[in-house]
Amino acid sequence: MIDLTINTENLARNIELARQRNVVIPTFQQMKHPETLPEKIKVRIKNVGLWDIDPLNLFRVTWKNEPKEHGGQFGQTNYIELPQELTGVRARIICLVGKWFPTGCHKVGASYGCLVPRLVTGQFDAVNHKAVWPSTGNYCRGGAFNSKLLSVYSVAILPRGMSKERFDWLETIASEIIATPGTESNVKEIFDKTRELRTTRDDVMIFNQFEEMGNHLWHYEVTGNAIAETFERIKGSKNGRLAAACFTSGSAGTIGCGDFLKEKYPNMKLAVGEALQCPTLLNNGYGEHRIEGIGDKHVPWIHNVRNTDMVIAIDDDDSQHLLRLFNDPQGKQFLKEEAGVAAEVVDNLDLFGISGIANLLCAIKTAKYYELAEDDIVATVLTDSAVMYGSRIKELAGAEGAYSLTRAAADFGRHLLGVRTDAMEELGYRGRKRIHDLKYYTWVEQQGKTAAELDDLWYDCEGTWGAVHKTAPQIDELIEDFNRRTGLI
Ligand SMILES: Cc1ncc(COP(=O)(O)O)c(C=O)c1O
Repeated sequence: MIDLTINTENLARNIELARQRNVVIPTFQQMKHPETLPEKIKVRIKNVGLWDIDPLNLFRVTWKNEPKEHGGQFGQTNYIELPQELTGVRARIICLVGKWFPTGCHKVGASYGCLVPRLVTGQFDAVNHKAVWPSTGNYCRGGAFNSKLLSVYSVAILPRGMSKERFDWLETIASEIIATPGTESNVKEIFDKTRELRTTRDDVMIFNQFEEMGNHLWHYEVTGNAIAETFERIKGSKNGRLAAACFTSGSAGTIGCGDFLKEKYPNMKLAVGEALQCPTLLNNGYGEHRIEGIGDKHVPWIHNVRNTDMVIAIDDDDSQHLLRLFNDPQGKQFLKEEAGVAAEVVDNLDLFGISGIANLLCAIKTAKYYELAEDDIVATVLTDSAVMYGSRIKELAGAEGAYSLTRAAADFGRHLLGVRTDAMEELGYRGRKRIHDLKYYTWVEQQGKTAAELDDLWYDCEGTWGAVHKTAPQIDELIEDFNRRTGLI
């Protein structure tokens, strides 16, 4: 499922390029455990900023970066735990923090997971190929960033309607930007552009996050481990259990960590979230919505639906109002003084981007649905942070006028504490199969997969998902060999 066939000529070129640019490639093992990095790297990285175009930042493709803009070392997983005063539920909700990845978003990991197997096998020719990153935003930011660190030509494809922050930054990083029609849920248009590139240019290599198992594998290995380690560290009493993990899905990369967690904690429930305004998984529905990064009117190839227990639709109006509540000074004042939420929590609510808020809402709905209590921990991630949505917050202020304590109280009551167990479905065999079968229309009808391959994802879990999950040590061996041959270590 992840092809590791070697192309000797390209590989030799890639190694030479890495030698010239002083690029050492981190292994999966090092991304999981950056504390084991050679001292030499830890010392050199002290002079490097988190977003700097420096190949050393490949070593910061991990959840364990010290949370600082410049010179950070490595510690434990970055996470925030949310108290009952904020969530309204008894269960403990923990959120891994994506802000402290280079680019401010964990998608840099997904793009790394897709690129690296092809780089160290030589299937991708870093000198002559252009790396194409089709995305609704953050994945192509991550792909362009990783490409730049490796001195590779990058093509970022994303919908025209995505936030200004994303375009502004991409202008400085990507070699080429292609804006496709529409917004968040217009992935078909991205696929069309990708196909056009594939047929009109012979120097492109497409890294399609929606089908690349490297995306799934990165989260299975790195995010899965980060959540498990965090849970083990904080679970408290011996009764503490990882009751659920909830992730909204864009490419369904992140939810790949659920496969790892379910192997370790078989009783855990795994929930997938999407926007109520585009309820593809819940209702085979479609529509436009404002939760940037998720829900794209199709089921990604790499979503292991067989392992998903619950589908949840989140009203984008809830996430928009909470974005304002979490970031406006009046909102923060209300939360501290009226709702009694600890100041250190409130002061960190800008760690939530819009999809992070949607993830939190999924966690709350799951906790309510399963009536989870104090010993239960629900895990999720904050893919990016509010840094990415300053222009959206301004737009909300422009459309709705000044914020106030009264509006904060209304938003808190309605959009957070008032969240109910509606618009969700606990999946049985038939429910899961219904969602899996929906893949047919994108992947077999449009994207060239065969029905037999689709069936394998359902009926041959060991030969498909199981095989992917075993690949990381083999890729690590290839990476180590690659690094040795550059002569840089
Ligand atoms: C902000 C944001 N949230 C959530 C997601 C969804 O994550 P995944 O693609 O791993 O499902 C993305 C994907 O690009 C994103 O950019």
